[in-house]
Amino acid sequence: MQRARGGPCPLGPCPLLFLTLVLLAVCLAQLSEGASYQQFVTRHFDSPKTSAANDRLYCNLLMQRRGLTRVFCKRRNTFIHAPAGKLQAICARGGTHVSLNLYDSLESFNVTTCRALPRSRPRHCRYRAATGNTKIRVACVQGLPVHLEPTYLP
Ligand SMILES: *[C@@H]1O[C@H](CO)[C@@H](O)[C@H](O)[C@H]1NC(C)=O
Repeated sequence: MQRARGGPCPLGPCPLLFLTLVLLAVCLAQLSEGASYQQFVTRHFDSPKTSAANDRLYCNLLMQRRGLTRVFCKRRNTFIHAPAGKLQAICARGGTHVSLNLYDSLESFNVTTCRALPRSRPRHCRYRAATGNTKIRVACVQGLPVHLEPTYLP
């Protein structure tokens, strides 16, 4: 009996190629997820809160330090002053599922929202600040927060 001649690769080098592609896809997925959590940390995590003379100067400093003023002055960004473990926990026992991959924190956190002043320009980005103590809504990927929703933010 002869095997039906299928495509060009019955069990030749193709399974290996397939495996390689799968591994590559998995690696890329993990890299990008790592980058997203890393991005979340860069953009939104500051604990303990960096000290500055006042919240306005805090925003001017942190927005620049986190690279959010390079190409343009990011219009709005919120920093959360809570331990990283508590933020990660929102995707698990520290949060309630809202929809899709969105979760609300059970706890409230101290946050600072920075908004660019109208005539802000790169190299001279200036911000006003609003602080609050609030629960937050995040998007989770593989158990890690990757995006902060504006829902409850000051
Ligand atoms: C949150 O902020 C308030 C007032 O700004 C401060 O008294 C309190 O200690 C802060 N809580 C935490 C957990 O940092």
